[in-house]
Amino acid sequence: MINDKKVLYSGMQATGNLTLGNYLGALKNWLTLNEEYECFFGVMDLHSITVRQDPAEFRKRARNLLALYIAAGLDPVKNCIYYQSHVSAHAELGWILDCFTYMGELNRMTQFKDKSAKHSDNINAGLYTYPVLMAADILLYQADYVPVGKDQQQHLEITRDIAQRFNAIYGDVFTIPEGYYGKKGAKVMSLQDPSKKMSKSDENVNGSIYLMDDVDTVVRKCKRAVTDSDSEVRYSEDKPGVSNLLEIYTACSGKSIEEAEKEFDGKGYGEFKLAVAEAVNSVLEPMHKEFDRIIKDKEYLDGIIKENDDKARYFANKTLRKVRKKVGFTDIPR
Ligand code: TYM
Repeated sequence: MINDKKVLYSGMQATGNLTLGNYLGALKNWLTLNEEYECFFGVMDLHSITVRQDPAEFRKRARNLLALYIAAGLDPVKNCIYYQSHVSAHAELGWILDCFTYMGELNRMTQFKDKSAKHSDNINAGLYTYPVLMAADILLYQADYVPVGKDQQQHLEITRDIAQRFNAIYGDVFTIPEGYYGKKGAKVMSLQDPSKKMSKSDENVNGSIYLMDDVDTVVRKCKRAVTDSDSEVRYSEDKPGVSNLLEIYTACSGKSIEEAEKEFDGKGYGEFKLAVAEAVNSVLEPMHKEFDRIIKDKEYLDGIIKENDDKARYFANKTLRKVRKKVGFTDIPR
């Protein structure tokens, strides 16, 4: 608890172009939850270097991500929005927790398997221990809740296992976090192949709606989205393309699936797809305007970064000191 509030922790990697999946699976839930909790939202730049990055481009993307959190509506005074790499406690606790994580557990991580297949020329140790660093992120802030998309569920489970193992040895050191998955949009699928998750690293750019896509691009991508050979707008397992669009439509418009099915009863896919695009644009357009304003304001952003870095460091170091003591490291002379 911080200031009598439960703690919420989440973040995104500063790689690639963020997609509508990132927004609906994570950011949108952060917006609805942030008033109720003491929140920390990281720009996960340490995780990003598990894949090679161009330094200049990487720096720009990380700053854009931070600005996007704010543009989406997160108040950086109420919420601690910061860069993971600015708080060295993440890397330190990551190492300590490496020593409390079994290779057998890491071998089971499906994201490691997927990413190793995608980057077969660079299967580095960081990619392998990635979930342990993620556990460190969460446990450093004694988080109660972690709102993420379904693809992160396995990482949340290993975080809980590591924390329970550590607590069983050393006493109550870490809060055991719970994952929070939204009712809608927890797994947005590709518009071109609804059996695959919408992903920023997809080579087929038509499969993903990027958060920075302009109005016309969104319309074009929605029009091209894969559906099926009948013409009924209905949510069903045997209609994965249409169901995915319905999920996107309802998540963006706030309507229920039943309402949406009724709305498009007897209407064709063409009309439905245009309505999906309109709903998506109604979310993206205001965000673009805010982003353009914020990213230009260097002084404002630098001020936010400095203040929130300090705040994150304060809470992270508090936990790290406790861990160091429990493990038995010698005190650092002051
Ligand atoms: P990342 O950067 O891949 O994704 C950021 C968030 O977006 C969600 N997401 C999706 N949700 C629904 N449908 C999709 N198609 C979709 N694609 C992505 C992800 O589930 C995630 O919530 N390991 C994390 C970053 C991280 C983190 C953490 C998260 C590092 N440390 C601590 C929470 C707590 C990641 O790679 O997310």
